[in-house]
Amino acid sequence: MSLAVYPGSFDPITNGHIDIVERSLKVFDRIIIAIALNQAKAGLFSLEERTELIRDVFAGNPRVEVESFDGLLVNYLQRRNANAVVRGLRAVSDFEYEFQMANMNRKLLPTAETFFLMTGADYFYVSSRLVKEVASLGGCVAGLVPETVRRRLLEKVGGGK
Ligand code: PNS
Repeated sequence: MSLAVYPGSFDPITNGHIDIVERSLKVFDRIIIAIALNQAKAGLFSLEERTELIRDVFAGNPRVEVESFDGLLVNYLQRRNANAVVRGLRAVSDFEYEFQMANMNRKLLPTAETFFLMTGADYFYVSSRLVKEVASLGGCVAGLVPETVRRRLLEKVGGGK
């Protein structure tokens, strides 16, 4: 059984993230969506909320697991006996940051590999940060996040569509 870890902040999960999970499942048998605790501290959604929203999206899919982790990603990989990390790439602007992280992780744990998947064309411009900003300023985020996430966003930031 091949296993990959898809780490991130997921504050909140977007349709771009979901697209990456679906693409990963074409290659890996199982995916763990791993929410980084450090990143969860200063976010809009609490760790519990992020977890619940993601679990809701993948409910009934036994190939997708949702968990959080504290500390270094490489330590989490070892705990879970995983040696594959999945990350989504949207535009060239993502590359620099991803390149640094992949190489740092490779230095820390040479047995692990990072796999980059290209986000579907519909989601190239979608990020959690922009979705939160647009929703908080009253813009419509339908189609960019799951319906449950859209509703929870509106409850949190008010207004919007
Ligand atoms: O969704 P994000 O915020 O781009 O995800 C970044 C994340 C969570 C993958 C990265 O910050 C991470 O791996 N954090 C865990 C701590 C760690 O291992 N830091 C060193 C990374 S080289």
